[in-house]
Amino acid sequence: MYIVGGSASRRLASELGRSMEAVISEVDVTRFPDDECYVRIDADLEGEDVLIAQTAWPDPNIVELMLLQDAVREMNPSSVTVVVPYFGYARQDKKFKDGEPISARALARLIQTQSDRFITVDVHAASVISWFDRIPAQNVSAHPQIGRFLGDRGVELVLSPDEGRWENAKRVAEVVGCQADFLIKERHDGESVTMTPKSLDASGKTVAIVDDIISTGGTIVKASEQLRKQGAASIIAVCTHGVFAKNAIERLKNVCDEVHSTDTIETPVTTITVAPEIAKAIGSG
Ligand code: R5P
Repeated sequence: MYIVGGSASRRLASELGRSMEAVISEVDVTRFPDDECYVRIDADLEGEDVLIAQTAWPDPNIVELMLLQDAVREMNPSSVTVVVPYFGYARQDKKFKDGEPISARALARLIQTQSDRFITVDVHAASVISWFDRIPAQNVSAHPQIGRFLGDRGVELVLSPDEGRWENAKRVAEVVGCQADFLIKERHDGESVTMTPKSLDASGKTVAIVDDIISTGGTIVKASEQLRKQGAASIIAVCTHGVFAKNAIERLKNVCDEVHSTDTIETPVTTITVAPEIAKAIGSG
């Protein structure tokens, strides 16, 4: 297999190369003076199985993905698998008002026109997968890798910031070999909000808060402040997708002992690779 890594997923592409013993193709990505994107793949991919890895966020990376897909198709490969580790727009998976697009569906439709198989990681809305109606599509979980990483850090309790993502916290905790719980948010008056584990006690413990996306960091900052007050000994914030808007990492580091994200988005705190999970999915395909 040949791996074509877009500029948003170079690190993941090289991890995939290692995990799958695949050849990494040289890819040149530059910008024209008017900021349009230029890509060139320096490899002969005719008759080869090709995997393109590129996170579809922010918007310029989506255009780059389209160009890479086109360039690969031009070479008549045997098959094209597109791996979009972070699927942008997945939070816009429905029409909230008349006149709006279903943005996540629009992106899915675009990607599937030039690929034979699609893989993403911890997609925010499961419905995204169903919009790939012409090719096999799969959502892969980063939780085994997050669990392995946290297992080496003495984590005693894994928390989800809300009940909706508790299953994820449970999957991580299972790998760590500890308990999981979710936080209950209660607003007492206009000013005061508390976030407390539903049934377990965080005091004196090394706690990991696991979320699929950290964007502004507001959710985790609030949760961490509360867990500190409740006596947590150490707090580790972990997410699959580190969007980290503005100064989110700095804000998080003020309240958490550690902050980590996976390589679905390359960030200054990327410490976990999802490559082994993608490699497993490809192997099982
Ligand atoms: C929400 O549904 C997601 O799972 C995250 O909790 C959310 O996107 C985090 O956003 P922020 O970092 O801005 O609080």
